[in-house]
Amino acid sequence: MVIHSIQQTIMIQTVCVCGAGTMGRGIAQVAARYGFHTILFDVNKDVLQQANTALQKDLRILVEKHKLTAEQQQSILDHIRFTSEINDCIADIVIEAIVEKLPVKVGLFNQLAEVNHSETIFATNTSSLSVTDIAKQVVHPERVAGMHFFNPAPLMKLVEVVATPLTNQATIDAVVSLTKELQKTPVLCNDAPGFIVNHVARPYYLEALYLAEKELSSIETMDTLLEATGFKMGPFKLMDLIGNDINYAVSCSVYDQLGQPLRLRPSPLQEEKVKSGALGRKSGKGYYQYN
Ligand code: NAI
Repeated sequence: MVIHSIQQTIMIQTVCVCGAGTMGRGIAQVAARYGFHTILFDVNKDVLQQANTALQKDLRILVEKHKLTAEQQQSILDHIRFTSEINDCIADIVIEAIVEKLPVKVGLFNQLAEVNHSETIFATNTSSLSVTDIAKQVVHPERVAGMHFFNPAPLMKLVEVVATPLTNQATIDAVVSLTKELQKTPVLCNDAPGFIVNHVARPYYLEALYLAEKELSSIETMDTLLEATGFKMGPFKLMDLIGNDINYAVSCSVYDQLGQPLRLRPSPLQEEKVKSGALGRKSGKGYYQYN
């Protein structure tokens, strides 16, 4: 007798992106671009307003460059709703892109579980936190997965998809299938500190920071040289793009999870940037100055 297991399929039509900062606004743009009803949620109304303004500007530029038609521009705008009300965050999948702090992410997922339906998937865009540790503390661990986009989300093609030992197959399948519908390439990763890219990339930042700390080279020289060797962005320009608060949080998280090896010690320069509010492009100042 052949026993067929019944594989549940989760249909995704509505996507709620939480956090309208660097990553959230880009992820929401992509979801709306490919026809998903998209809710963009942030606790900070000013950030929501900035995300709205930035989206309109980015779309206008894309139309001017003939990378988007006026109809597509309008359709994206029609598909996104901005909100600071948690009760509006009802969706088939929630993708959180809020601060890189485990208790805050857990708190948000548990709040969202109260207002959502029994099949809603909870995806985290964390760069470095353990998805399993997040899942263990939320009410529906089997519906938690990692969905790690890269910056800038509208352009970067890869998404690291992270299943934990608690994630059910229907959730993994739905996240993989959504990633493809967003015209991105899913790469299945183990739930290891920094997954693949952020683990491998750590020394790129830290070794450059070490040279800067010791004043063995200037940041401009290092960026220029590394770009000349083929890297798309030098380490300091890249850290400013990512956000120095995020990059520092990821450095600390990977360092701690790996047992604090000396080679991955976060740099005092990173901490200094965070403490002085020099967060990179998003704050107008980081290793470089921005308008
Ligand atoms: P960000 O600092 O630009 O934005 C975070 C946003 O979350 C802020 O607007 C803040 O108001 C909002 N927020 C904070 N707590 C909230 C809550 N409880 N509910 C709703 N909104 C809340 O951060 P960014 O850079 O967008 O990073 C977000 C997440 O994405 C982090 O987990 C980070 O590790 C990850 N990530 C970041 C990348 C980057 O290059 N910046 C790349 C890939 C992942």
